[in-house]
Amino acid sequence: MSEKLIIQGGKSLEGSIDVPGAKNSALPLIAATLITDKSIHLKNVPGLKDVKTMLQMVQELGKRVESTGSNSVRISGAVSNNEAPMELVRKMRASFLVLAPLICRTGKAEVPLPGGCNIGTRPVDLHLEGLKDLGATIEQRDGKIIARADKLQGSDIFFDYPSVGATEQLLMAAVGARGRTRLYNGAQEPEIRDLAEFLNELGANVSLDGSIINVEGGQEFNGTTYEVLPDRIAAGTYMLAVGATGGSVNVESVDIPSLKPLTLKLKKAGLKIVEGDNSIRIEKTERPENLEVITLPYPGFPTDLQAPITSMLTLAKGKSVIKETVFDSRFGHVAELSKMGADISVTNSSTVFVEGKNSLRGTEVEATDIRAGAALVIAGLAGEGKTEITGLKHLDRGYSKLLEHLQEIGANAERVDT
Ligand code: UD1
Repeated sequence: MSEKLIIQGGKSLEGSIDVPGAKNSALPLIAATLITDKSIHLKNVPGLKDVKTMLQMVQELGKRVESTGSNSVRISGAVSNNEAPMELVRKMRASFLVLAPLICRTGKAEVPLPGGCNIGTRPVDLHLEGLKDLGATIEQRDGKIIARADKLQGSDIFFDYPSVGATEQLLMAAVGARGRTRLYNGAQEPEIRDLAEFLNELGANVSLDGSIINVEGGQEFNGTTYEVLPDRIAAGTYMLAVGATGGSVNVESVDIPSLKPLTLKLKKAGLKIVEGDNSIRIEKTERPENLEVITLPYPGFPTDLQAPITSMLTLAKGKSVIKETVFDSRFGHVAELSKMGADISVTNSSTVFVEGKNSLRGTEVEATDIRAGAALVIAGLAGEGKTEITGLKHLDRGYSKLLEHLQEIGANAERVDT
């Protein structure tokens, strides 16, 4: 049975939202629990399909997983299987992150090549090169990676590109390796900092120095209780919705520094942003100003907000230019936004041109990936009349309590079976 999200748009948004924990932090943290047998209590874990997939994955590999509340989970016990099931890895690219912890614990790992969102080519060469630098042997057979190392050995590793996933993979490998590792040109996303802090809570010795990450490996691990970082992308999505519709919303439980690349852009677009200790009030009364946006690794503008900000800019005054540099094909929202009346086009050099209009009109559209779906929700909230969004399985991977949150800020939205 499939479902659709129906939004009656054109209402300004008012109210407050409590932002859930970050998907992109929860997933690597759950993978990292494989590195120890000790009990780990994770809090502020978002209720999402991808999180369920990762929990199922660690369970398949031998871990005991117990829910301790609506947003918390206890993970304990030893790894008893080092072969990751194909059907789970195919569902979600982040499940490839079990590779390094499995090698550290068992000396061997078999992990299928990953699936995930359809947003361009997403190789894993940087993950594999780094593991080889730490002494693993890597074989590729029948769509699987088979990696072996009796004991990984610390080393200096240089990333040609600051991949988030590869940095997380190698960070976990380095804490399990003997001796010192330095990762050069590593990703600096807030979720990397969260993983490093979590590993340190377990007893690891990781220090971050910008894009250089220092690790003294081979420590004994203990158990811990740890709270997942708030989701900057979910927070940003709701802020951009206000930018598109108008109104004023308090976005609560946010990590202010990690939202700077967005809040500074939104101020340029004329939105009023008031930052509290861990909340942001966003207000908009007039059409936003046009912007130039380029996506880059953190602290650049996040690629995960490229589609959502494009939605807002379809309603801006004048012409905006949005350049995607992180993924090579992340434009599933463009054709759908033009069905809603947006004046938008994308070039083959990954640049989107948008001529802002007074209004969008509701129609039937399809979410093709998580963030394209978020862009359509924003357009639906701002558009006149009824928008029907299908492809909700993508939104369910990334947005916990989406409908509840939309209703909390006064949106006229419902989810129905088709
Ligand atoms: C993570 C996020 C995703 C976000 C992305 C970039 C999670 C679960 N997902 O994805 O939401 O959009 O960061 O901020 O945290 N690449 C290679 N070789 C590799 C690895 C990556 O060429 O070995 C390329 C990819 O094809 C892509 C770019 O690097 O073009 C960025 O990918 P990466 O930073 O690895 O993103 P993910 O970790 O997959």
